[in-house]
Amino acid sequence: MDHFQLRNGELYAEDVPLARIAAEVGTPVYVYSRATLERHARVFREALQGLGRVHLAFAVKANPNLAVLRVLAKAGYGADIVSGGEMARALAAGVAAEGIVFSGVGKTPAELAQGLESGIGQFNLEHEEEGQVLSALAAAKGQRVSATLRVNPDVDAGTHEKISTGKADNKFGVPIDQAPAMYARLAALPGLNMRGVACHIGSQLSTVAPLESAYARIGTLIAELRAAGHSVDRADLGGGLGVRYRPEDVVPWPSDLGEMVARVTKGWDVELMFEPGRVIAGNAGVLLTSVVWVKPGIVHPYVIVDAAMNDLARPALYGAYHHFEAARPSGERMTAHIAGPVCETGDTFAMNRDIDRVESGDLAIFRTAGAYGATMASTYNSRSLVPEVMVDGDRYAVVADRISAETIMHAERVPEWLAD
Ligand code: LLP
Repeated sequence: MDHFQLRNGELYAEDVPLARIAAEVGTPVYVYSRATLERHARVFREALQGLGRVHLAFAVKANPNLAVLRVLAKAGYGADIVSGGEMARALAAGVAAEGIVFSGVGKTPAELAQGLESGIGQFNLEHEEEGQVLSALAAAKGQRVSATLRVNPDVDAGTHEKISTGKADNKFGVPIDQAPAMYARLAALPGLNMRGVACHIGSQLSTVAPLESAYARIGTLIAELRAAGHSVDRADLGGGLGVRYRPEDVVPWPSDLGEMVARVTKGWDVELMFEPGRVIAGNAGVLLTSVVWVKPGIVHPYVIVDAAMNDLARPALYGAYHHFEAARPSGERMTAHIAGPVCETGDTFAMNRDIDRVESGDLAIFRTAGAYGATMASTYNSRSLVPEVMVDGDRYAVVADRISAETIMHAERVPEWLAD
């Protein structure tokens, strides 16, 4: 459930009409609902109650806005990060350093050192050399840092190929059959305290079945590691739960995950860690846009909106569906294509879509834009960087400014030797 609902024929974010935000901040703009974020954070946590020790680390990549991270930090979430930039954000938002998990296949030695310096709670190692470098850095400071080995369980997550991460030929983790020997070598290094294993097989999963296959393999590996004399007290089970983009989508509930995990991890006796992103933030945000023109087409008209592929990249990148709704629906419908102003055909949000009838000047939203939305924005076509707003009851705040094309241009310069 989210807090973007119609009231007297008008779309609200909690108690704030979206039209007010559009009038005061302008469009396009991302709008987040604090109550929805908090609700999702609570539902996810409750679904995992009864599993013993659990650590929840929000996947910062899904929505790194400081205000969003602050809400989740206050809800007791740690952070799953993949770069020094995300680390800085999580810390700035008040996430406790011990609650931060450093994932990612390309952590640089400088980023590993930054993590050590900040005292973050866990490094998820993606390969052996990374572990050797981290150990050397830690040992040089007289430290031993907590780490897990990320394994690639070779399961098909059944999701879009670009967001699938657990097949053998994906770049992530180490092959599960090589994990025991590698774990033993890493555990012998002086700067590492090997705590267990990690996996993440993909995102926007439409069932928990592939997770179950992956976790079953992790369970076997944990038993094998223990049999070899290693102590294992953590298992990081990643993120990946899908959310509903189309009204008719069927997706797993957090409770489905909780039931499956309880069954599969019975007897593991470890702290279970999760890295949810989309399921927390996805439906807690919308992209508010204005209709610029309704341009006649050959069969159906083109609704040209002021948001574009640079603001919300998912349709162009993955062919993703985002539900489109008028902010003041008249009840009439139309079939139309929806596109942005960017000069390429890929800048199309939908073709032949049955939508609320809209006209030039109308406001509309793309739903389910709170995860992998603003964070993937660019300034292509010299457009401004899209701003973000957070609503809390009947108040709202601009939580990221619109960065104008002019400001961005000011960071560039023409060298002297080109000036004449
Ligand atoms: N943990 C790790 C190690 C990850 O790589 C990811 C996502 C997550 C957790 C969070 O997964 P989630 O719970 O959000 O599914 N830009 C794409 C999604 C890329 C996801 C990458 N990894 C999209 O817009 O669909």
